[in-house]
Amino acid sequence: MRQLVPSWIRVPVAFFIIFGAVEFFIDSGEKPAFVEYPAVLLFLLLVLLILIAIEAIIGALENVMLHKLDEAGKARFLAEKESTIKFTWLKETYQKLLGQKPIEEETEIILDHNYDGIKELDNNLPPWWVYSFYISIIFAAVYLLRFHVFNGYTQIDELETELADARIALEAYKKTAKDLVDFNTVTVLTDAADVKAGQAIFQSNCVACHMADGGGGIGPNLTDDHWILGGGIKNVFKTISEGGRSGKGMIAWKAQLKPAQMAQVASYVLTLQGTTPANPKPAEGDIWVDENAPESAVPTEAIETKTNDVISVE
Ligand code: HEC
Repeated sequence: MRQLVPSWIRVPVAFFIIFGAVEFFIDSGEKPAFVEYPAVLLFLLLVLLILIAIEAIIGALENVMLHKLDEAGKARFLAEKESTIKFTWLKETYQKLLGQKPIEEETEIILDHNYDGIKELDNNLPPWWVYSFYISIIFAAVYLLRFHVFNGYTQIDELETELADARIALEAYKKTAKDLVDFNTVTVLTDAADVKAGQAIFQSNCVACHMADGGGGIGPNLTDDHWILGGGIKNVFKTISEGGRSGKGMIAWKAQLKPAQMAQVASYVLTLQGTTPANPKPAEGDIWVDENAPESAVPTEAIETKTNDVISVE
């Protein structure tokens, strides 16, 4: 084995086998283990150092051995080393790709011109260059036909598909990342599990001031349609998250509850609307009307009349 494969192949191969094994057996989530855990990176570097050190030691030992051998022994040893794979085909392929005449044959292709002692070689164009050029011509033809003759997709189409994909990905992400909500984006959660979770949060954090049935105590009645700080999911979420007016006793719960939990408890609070608590606290604040929901209900005639009025005034 040692005689067959040169060390510049042996070290990387051994290293990548160990590297692969490490990545395979260590569960590091999406990132590779050596990125996730610095210790793994250190370990791999150490392995690499050790592998190189082993090669260096073996090389040194061989040299010492060579000095101790008699002539016949030396010859045998060197012959064995000769059998190392030399990868001549690699060199040959490279040579072919360049398409140059070897230096010995250059006299055949030297041009007659003599520019102040500088002569020119008439080498062929390197095949890698020529074939890349042909491929680019074929590519151009196909491209021209596809996009300019048969009107393939445009960059705008491409952008739109990408945007659509991104929108889908964003929706999917929002579903998994419920804690992304804030009072601008929150919507009423109607899922029974969410409302139940909200109820549990309410029982353990809020009943002291709002009562178990939401009838109110230190805090206002949450079952009526009067709100001090505004009703609707967005305002309720905001009140829970940011707290009430200072000195009133309603703290900002964002320090203790996660956004998803605040959305749950806010949704639960809204389910209390219209229920009849045992000891309802008198209504405080104003009747709250949603300004956003009845957008379509804004009478269009009213606006039109107004414009007409303006015109008639002029
Ligand atoms: C220490 C007592 C206390 C606790 C605990 C408390 N609140 Fe309050 N809450 C109040 C007070 C007082 C107000 C009125 C604030 C104001 O007037 O600015 C209030 C107001 C509110 C309002 C707005 C009512 C309105 O009319 O605008 C909501 C919604 C609310 N609380 C929900 C909750 C939720 C949900 C919890 C539990 C996570 C909770 N509160 C815990 C005392 C409390």
